[in-house]
Amino acid sequence: MPRRLFGSFVEHLGRCVYTGLYEPGHPTADADGFRRDVLALVRELGVTTVRYPGGNFVSSYRWEDGVGPVDQRPARLDLAWHSLETNEFGLDEFMRWVGKADVDPIMAVNLGTRGTAEAVDLLEYANHRGGSHLADQRRDNGAADPYGITLWCLGNEMDGPWQVGQRSATEYGRLASQTAKAMRRFDPDLELVACGSSHLGMPTFGAWERDVLTEAYEDVDLISLHAYYQPVDDDLASFLASAEDMDRYIDAVTAIADSVGAIRRSTKKIMIAFDEWNVWYQSAAPSNPPSGEDWPVAPPLLEDHYSVADAVVVGGLLISLLRHSDRVTAACQAQLVNVIAPIMTEPGGAAWRQTIFHPFARTARHARGAVLDVLRDGSTTSTDRFGEIDAVDAVSTWDDDTGEMTVFLVNRVVTTPAEVTVDVTGARLAGIIECVTVGGTDLHAKNTADGPDHAEPRPNGTARSADTGVQLTLPPASWTMLRLRATDVTT
Ligand code: AHR
Repeated sequence: MPRRLFGSFVEHLGRCVYTGLYEPGHPTADADGFRRDVLALVRELGVTTVRYPGGNFVSSYRWEDGVGPVDQRPARLDLAWHSLETNEFGLDEFMRWVGKADVDPIMAVNLGTRGTAEAVDLLEYANHRGGSHLADQRRDNGAADPYGITLWCLGNEMDGPWQVGQRSATEYGRLASQTAKAMRRFDPDLELVACGSSHLGMPTFGAWERDVLTEAYEDVDLISLHAYYQPVDDDLASFLASAEDMDRYIDAVTAIADSVGAIRRSTKKIMIAFDEWNVWYQSAAPSNPPSGEDWPVAPPLLEDHYSVADAVVVGGLLISLLRHSDRVTAACQAQLVNVIAPIMTEPGGAAWRQTIFHPFARTARHARGAVLDVLRDGSTTSTDRFGEIDAVDAVSTWDDDTGEMTVFLVNRVVTTPAEVTVDVTGARLAGIIECVTVGGTDLHAKNTADGPDHAEPRPNGTARSADTGVQLTLPPASWTMLRLRATDVTT
């Protein structure tokens, strides 16, 4: 299973970078101005990759503004979020931060206001060893070694009317194809992501993917999917089942990509980068950017405070991503700090975990090795949005190196517990390592900087092991992780 499933996203948006990752003068700031308290939480979260610098921001961003002596960098208007970008933090700072956080970068290029030339310039600055103008600039700026960034996003949400430089599918597909070809002249082994639809509800969904891939099929490796979930009309049952939507979305894009491939008689398969996903209360006030004369620096934007129910949904979405890991080879929870994020900070103060931190951290730590097929056979539940669905969703992983089998489960029924038998016939079960649950109670509770931590996984004492399986009770509206010691597993 690709470890890149546990990626995250840092955009120059609100306080994600400034007073999030980066706050010189903070009591925990290191010599680079990076908050060490945030770095510690990022490592605990288990994030493997981080996409940067946007998001909508990238579509009017000039990467050159963010390199070189900091006191000479220009302040610019950020047209995406109506903010002032000081450019104190740019590519070189990000790459230093990436090294300290021990994650891999995913870099996005601006195909909104800019094009192939600037994308190739950025690639040369980042990845060429030296001896050319831009690579030598990087060296002069203190980074002697090339960054070796391998995964690149060709723009962001180029179908969206809100995107600076929105294009038609064919226009964008051609630009993505040309840019990809040019970037591959520098390095044929780059992995390149074309923009899919901004979400499943876009009126051009489907046709967009088909037309973009018709232009760029042989030039790109992945296509992006973005999805944000929130309860609609207080319909908690459908919200808890958000993974159904994610499943259907992934299956639909996979089918479209494969149909374009079949028409081209191509043996190549396009993979999926689910490079923005999360719970996001988009209708809430913190989502509205400033307007008018006001262009603030790092205003608080999209600072959703998550509930226990949101944490259960995030756990469910991770199950969907794992289930599709044969095609989804990269994913990024959006975003990492302060902006619809698992980690929150107070300027000059504490950094703390939101409820959604926990299912992500546990899944990232324990979902390892191969993803196993789980046959679900049990009761169903009825939802307004998705109709009749399995009451319990589940996926399992098996790590041959450690002999650990981990089962992730969500009970999507709001009112009743689920009695579950995890049948591991075909493997030898040697015992339960751990069984923890999030949810079941206090579904509306939210964390704050001062605690308590409502979604801290708590031991689920109901798990009982027999020779071929485990019996356990899942509380209503809950996420559970069951870790087993098992041998002789057939994958
Ligand atoms: O993650 C917040 C925003 O959501 C991103 O900038 C954009 O790509 C998406 O619409």
